[in-house]
Amino acid sequence: SEKKLWGGRFKESTDKLVEQFTESVSYDKRLALVDIAGSIAHAEMLRKQGILTEEEAEKIINGLKEIQKEIEEGKFDWKVEYEDVHMNIEKRLTEKIGPVGGKLHTARSRNDQVATDVRLYVRNEVKEILNLLKELRKAFVEQAEKHLDVVMPGYTHLQIAQPVLYSHHMLAYYQMFKRDAERFEDSLKRINVSPLGSAALAGTSFPLDREYTARLLGFEDVTKNSLDAVSDRDFVAETIFNCAMVMMHLSRLSEELILWSTDEFNFIELPDAYCTGSSIMPQKKNPDVSELTRGKTGRVYGDLIAILTILKGLPLAYNRDMQEDKEPLFDAIDTVKLALKVNIGVVRNMKPKAERMREQARRGFSLATDVADYLAKKGIPFREAHRIVGELVAYCLENKKGLEDLSLDEFKKFSDAFEEDVLSLMSVEGSINSRNVTGGTAKQQVEKELQQIKEEEGFE
Ligand code: ARG
Repeated sequence: SEKKLWGGRFKESTDKLVEQFTESVSYDKRLALVDIAGSIAHAEMLRKQGILTEEEAEKIINGLKEIQKEIEEGKFDWKVEYEDVHMNIEKRLTEKIGPVGGKLHTARSRNDQVATDVRLYVRNEVKEILNLLKELRKAFVEQAEKHLDVVMPGYTHLQIAQPVLYSHHMLAYYQMFKRDAERFEDSLKRINVSPLGSAALAGTSFPLDREYTARLLGFEDVTKNSLDAVSDRDFVAETIFNCAMVMMHLSRLSEELILWSTDEFNFIELPDAYCTGSSIMPQKKNPDVSELTRGKTGRVYGDLIAILTILKGLPLAYNRDMQEDKEPLFDAIDTVKLALKVNIGVVRNMKPKAERMREQARRGFSLATDVADYLAKKGIPFREAHRIVGELVAYCLENKKGLEDLSLDEFKKFSDAFEEDVLSLMSVEGSINSRNVTGGTAKQQVEKELQQIKEEEGFE
């Protein structure tokens, strides 16, 4: 078979099974374009430093650009015998321009090359994820704005707790995805650093200008230690973690939408276009997008555990184990992007069922805290007020009444502090609007939060 690029010291050719076991081109070919970008920058730097002549650099760079075109047009013939994306491209380069192609790899190793490629790739993907996160946040803001008058029960322990605005609930999700975006944004300063020049592990004897290559590739900085540079995959683990966190948030949203779209809750109408039917039960409209989002969260957690486990036993510097970083990374990124795209559609097009939510908002003695607060404001210690209202609730349960059904006389049986105005307390809106503290659910606060968000984000 074909001679390997590294075949000099070998007498036997590689076992076919070993080729199959060690190859990565079947999946790392998605790094082809960033690999070429890295190679072109490296060649330009070699030329500037006089390590390549004008003519040599010209040939190499033009050859790489032609290969890029072949790849983009789907004409490139990827070969498993050449192992990975880097050697497939280098082989093709020498095929096209002759032995001078072999000069491209001067002062470079696949170890700093692959680290560079993955950083460039992750940088691009993080920017796309950031755009999707912003679109998702916008969808929550739109929901919040469109339905400012919708009230719903707020829950703790999945038991009705206190009434809240639906908009407040939507903006809670906004905050989660805002933090996710901040995390990705922050990770860019660790991702966007150039390892080129670290070579195999120790640096190189050629007079490189590492800062120049870094600048050509849009890197903010160069790595400070060659051993670390070729063995650092922290940014891969960090990116997968950031994806896992987004998935966890999407999964919590999904869980709620699944509950809310049951007949028992009946809080929301999911868009038909985002649901699927049953092959046997004609009446069914299933929230499969939400269920699969919840399910795919498990995959991405798996990707995170995979990368952390791959890295935990590795001595410095490069080890081939690190080739296994790519599939979890690609899977996490692909999954989170697709999940974000489809959930943007869900959030944009879902419709709250305002009447039903309002009905439920006053159930479960959701105004009990308001009554306790009322007593506390009349000077009764809150603990005492809590006990009194607890007894009131027990009385209501025994007599099958709601707090709003009680007369003033009944209230007074439990405390002298109750006066006429307790009766006007029994409104969901009143309860909501009384929570007028920064970050609270009062309409005034939610409107203020919305305003701030829209300004900060530049949303219309
Ligand atoms: N395919 C390899 C990887 O993804 C590229 C680096 C290979 N380096 C080596 N010394 N075998 O890690």
